[in-house]
Amino acid sequence: MPTSEIRSIILAAGKGTRMKSSNPKVLHSIMGKTLLERVVNAALKVEDINKTYVIVGHQAQMVENLVKEKYADEVETVLQEPQLGTGDAVYKCYEKLKDFQGSVIVLYGDTPLIRTETIEKFINSHRSSNAVLTVMTAIVANPLNYGRIIRDEGGSILKIVEEKDATPSQKAIKEINAGIYCFDWQKIAPAFNELTPNNEQGELYLTDVIDWSVRKGMKTNAYVLEDSSEVFGINSQKQLARAAIKLKNRKLEELMDLGVTIIDPIMTWISPETEIGADSTIYPNCYIEGENFLGEKNIIGPNTYIKGNVETADNVQIVASVLSNTVIAENVTIGPFAHLRDNVNISENVRIGNFVEVKKSNIDDGSKVAHLSYIGDTKIGKNVNIGAGTITANYNSITKEKKQTIIEDDASIGSNSVLVAPVKIEKGAMVGALSVITQNIAQNALAVTRAPMKMVKDWVLKFKK
Ligand code: UD1
Ligand code: CA
Repeated sequence: MPTSEIRSIILAAGKGTRMKSSNPKVLHSIMGKTLLERVVNAALKVEDINKTYVIVGHQAQMVENLVKEKYADEVETVLQEPQLGTGDAVYKCYEKLKDFQGSVIVLYGDTPLIRTETIEKFINSHRSSNAVLTVMTAIVANPLNYGRIIRDEGGSILKIVEEKDATPSQKAIKEINAGIYCFDWQKIAPAFNELTPNNEQGELYLTDVIDWSVRKGMKTNAYVLEDSSEVFGINSQKQLARAAIKLKNRKLEELMDLGVTIIDPIMTWISPETEIGADSTIYPNCYIEGENFLGEKNIIGPNTYIKGNVETADNVQIVASVLSNTVIAENVTIGPFAHLRDNVNISENVRIGNFVEVKKSNIDDGSKVAHLSYIGDTKIGKNVNIGAGTITANYNSITKEKKQTIIEDDASIGSNSVLVAPVKIEKGAMVGALSVITQNIAQNALAVTRAPMKMVKDWVLKFKK
């Protein structure tokens, strides 16, 4: 009995020769996510798809590792070795789908701009037309290197001809194969036994399945996509760069529609996985990749690099800084030239100023680290003032161990001090400027380690004589 179940097959076994890279093509990234992840994520979000296979081959181990790390058991990898073409790649699922009664949707791992909603519309069209096979097509200004859609006089699809096999008049056709197919598995499966490598590239083409189903008299449809940029395929570094620009422009437009001000959309990069609240302003030269949640009324940039897993509340201001794995509460100011490296937690009304690096640290309400400091493996309480040039010496280069510094509420650290961890500065204590602190300082105590100051009267006058 046919069911409405859908399984997806994502092709990611190809070498990607035209990338001229030692890494597999589908593992190249756009704003913090690989091309393959972008396609897999779009497919996994489709409600009706309940099983996904990724075909791996060239540098299979690397691709498999990524799939395991990101998707655990949600996605199964299938090995294609050697890689004999896109038709052969799908054929690798033949045994696994032997008793499968539903539909299969095939996607290519090098087409990362595809959206979940588009896949859903495509599936709906396949279902409502009662087609046995539906292929997604698009009309593009420059069809170079895509397969061309050949239709009969009545407009019905006949077959797909690859660029390398096309005649000059076929090359002039602007309707291209997007590389996304949906078909009734049991009806189309026999085609995979009949594919032949009778083409310029000597490969088994998935595209030949269209010609097969038309010849068998099965209902074969072409679904023409509205926004052709969604199926932009990446085969070269130049196309990778163009795809990235398309993706970020799409995101910037979405954000602007939600009330975010983007001062310069050309010089701003924001990943699709980032959320930003209304009335925030993004100044030029921001690069925001990975998954981030930035609140409302924030001011980000200019010249800010957010590397992922950053979360801010409302009314935060960040200028010329690098941030990753950071949580920032309300009314916080960061930068310019701050580096919040990893696991940083910043509470309300905190100020992190120029040339400050913070790593694995918590900074509680109202505390200030205004200039030229390194804060690592540190817990800073409320209303603490860290003077310019303070260093928490957290690393022992002989034992290779990292140790913790604790600075309690209302403490004050004088400029150019070194706090050698493990060490604790208790509540309200004060460290004099230029001190090296190697033991705990008690509540409300003053600690100073510098040599006493000396003043020699009229020394300059004597020296000049
Ligand atoms: C393919 C289509 C073309 C379409 C275009 C859309 C074929 C024969 N041609 O061409 O009609 O317009 O995509 O972007 O399908 N792959 C494997 N195993 C293989 C070969 C390829 O898994 O043996 C994977 C690749 O990793 C890639 C995808 O299949 O993700 C497409 O392969 P690629 O070589 O890029 O095909 P195109 O020449 O772009
Ligand atoms: Ca391609």
